[in-house]
Amino acid sequence: MPSARRTAILLRALAAIGPLLLISAACTSQAAERLPTLEPQAARGQAVFQMHCARCHAASGDGIVVGPSLAGIATRGAGRIEGLDAEAYIRDSIRDPRRYTVEGFPNNLMPADIADQVGEAHLDDLVSYLLTLR
Ligand code: HEC
Repeated sequence: MPSARRTAILLRALAAIGPLLLISAACTSQAAERLPTLEPQAARGQAVFQMHCARCHAASGDGIVVGPSLAGIATRGAGRIEGLDAEAYIRDSIRDPRRYTVEGFPNNLMPADIADQVGEAHLDDLVSYLLTLR
């Protein structure tokens, strides 16, 4: 193939891909900007979440891993059970996973002793992180 023609093809390919690269770069930086910086306590809680909860719960989007996504739990959690605000609902859900059941999910999957696994010392951090999921 003559090299001028090869160059022309290459340029056309770049012209086609270029805008896509720009768009994806723009999306990535926007996503990064949207992520709030977590307070230290919530940041510690996020690490606890990664270790003990992320295998079953997404923290963004509405994908089901094993359990429901916890995206928005800080707002959705209020009113789930009459008389409980989001924080109380989240704490109960962790301390006593069998007490409430999200419709459409079996209620025996979340480990009954998950609070012990997390450890009392890390519960507040964890809850503080979950309360950032608005
Ligand atoms: C082995 C899987 C599993 C693990 C690990 C797990 N969960 Fe769950 N979780 C579930 C399932 C399934 C449900 C839905 C059924 C129910 O309500 O019991 C659920 C429900 C919940 C709910 C209620 C959600 C809603 O929309 O009302 C909260 C809050 C919750 N989990 C928090 C946690 C936290 C925090 C951890 C980590 C400390 C954790 N879970 C660990 C499986 C799991």
